[in-house]
Amino acid sequence: MTSMTVNERPVHFDMDPQTPLLWALRDAANLTGTKYGCGVGDCGACMVLVDGEALRSCLVTLGEAEGRFITTIEGLSADRSHPVQQALVAEQAIQCGFCTPGIAMAAAALIGRNPEPTEAEIMAAIPNLCRCGVYPRLVRAVQRAGRVARRRERISAAPAPGIDPADAARAVPALGGGSGTSADD
Ligand code: FES
Ligand code: FES
Repeated sequence: MTSMTVNERPVHFDMDPQTPLLWALRDAANLTGTKYGCGVGDCGACMVLVDGEALRSCLVTLGEAEGRFITTIEGLSADRSHPVQQALVAEQAIQCGFCTPGIAMAAAALIGRNPEPTEAEIMAAIPNLCRCGVYPRLVRAVQRAGRVARRRERISAAPAPGIDPADAARAVPALGGGSGTSADD
């Protein structure tokens, strides 16, 4: 049993401690916002926050995550109101969207420690691969997110999601108390 805090909830994974955190989050906890791209640490699609630091969850084992505070894209904000989420939408820095959760997590970590990053700092802190090539818009979005975080700018709220995340989770059996994970409310 490996215990950690995921999106502010205590979670216990009854899985091999060598299991990549990515698999536990996606397959056992049903947190499928974290994406599986390469599985070997190259693409960044799987980035989550571990004690506030953006890490590739395909390279972190459950054992290494023991006792840590994990934040996934589902936990970044309850209503897509995090400055990075607002700015990514406002700058249309999303095309297919597959890379977006990982980018959002890396950007959130960056803005948290440096809300006024240069383009070079952004490119260094967000090495994520994007097949659609949103990089120029990404730089604008992250700088805009920094301005929002510093209260120099406001962005209107993003449109409401088409489905309540709780409803989406209920539609998938993995969160129904089945094998692999449990959460204490
Ligand atoms: S899936 Fe983890 S870096 Fe690509
Ligand atoms: S938006 Fe398609 S991979 Fe980045």
